[in-house]
Amino acid sequence: MEFLRTRRTYRRFQQKAVPAAVVDDILEAARIASCGANRQTLKYLVVQSPEQVDKVNGLVHWAAYLPPEQGIPKAEERPTLFIAVFQDEALPGANDTDAGLALGSMTAAAWSHGVGSCIMGAIDRPALCDLFGTAPSLRLHSMVAFGYPAHESRVVEMHDGDVRYYLDDARDYCVPKRPLSEILLGRI
Ligand SMILES: Cc1cc2nc3c(=O)[nH]c(=O)nc-3n(C[C@H](O)[C@H](O)[C@H](O)COP(=O)(O)O)c2cc1C
Repeated sequence: MEFLRTRRTYRRFQQKAVPAAVVDDILEAARIASCGANRQTLKYLVVQSPEQVDKVNGLVHWAAYLPPEQGIPKAEERPTLFIAVFQDEALPGANDTDAGLALGSMTAAAWSHGVGSCIMGAIDRPALCDLFGTAPSLRLHSMVAFGYPAHESRVVEMHDGDVRYYLDDARDYCVPKRPLSEILLGRI
């Protein structure tokens, strides 16, 4: 449970490359993830050269609940790796549940090595696909940013149903979650 409590979203990173062995584990976690009818419709692209990482970083949107000066990582806080997750529409059965399970496994594999991540859906898909030069049959589902965190993030109590995360005085992320009493319908 401690692993799950700390496997949060991270948005500021140390400028230290994610080792190849960790990248391999992230991809292996994606490869073996559960998926509907075992159809395996997802494809991945690793973005790790600093030039390409910088280009991708210009095409993703960070932390919608925060003012830009708080939510957007500064040059020296940027992720050091992105992985693009595509749905291959040439194959039957692509679905968002499979993508979610793969994303969960990838970010957990990373965190098992102390590598933090941010799943990103607010992304400029046309510009990213142009940059990658990928086939039109590959639908860009999400980008995931990775790196060694430069901040902490913790789950906090929610007040008045406010789901917005915020930064505390140390610029650490506070992520309100609904209490169990609100989400558990019962035990029958
Ligand atoms: C499907 C999905 C899309 C997301 N898209 C973005 C995004 O575009 N930009 C961003 O900064 N965070 C993004 N996030 C991170 C969420 O904001 C974050 O998961 C949420 O605030 C809860 O924080 P936690 O992951 O620490 O529990 C996304 C997360 C998910 C699961």
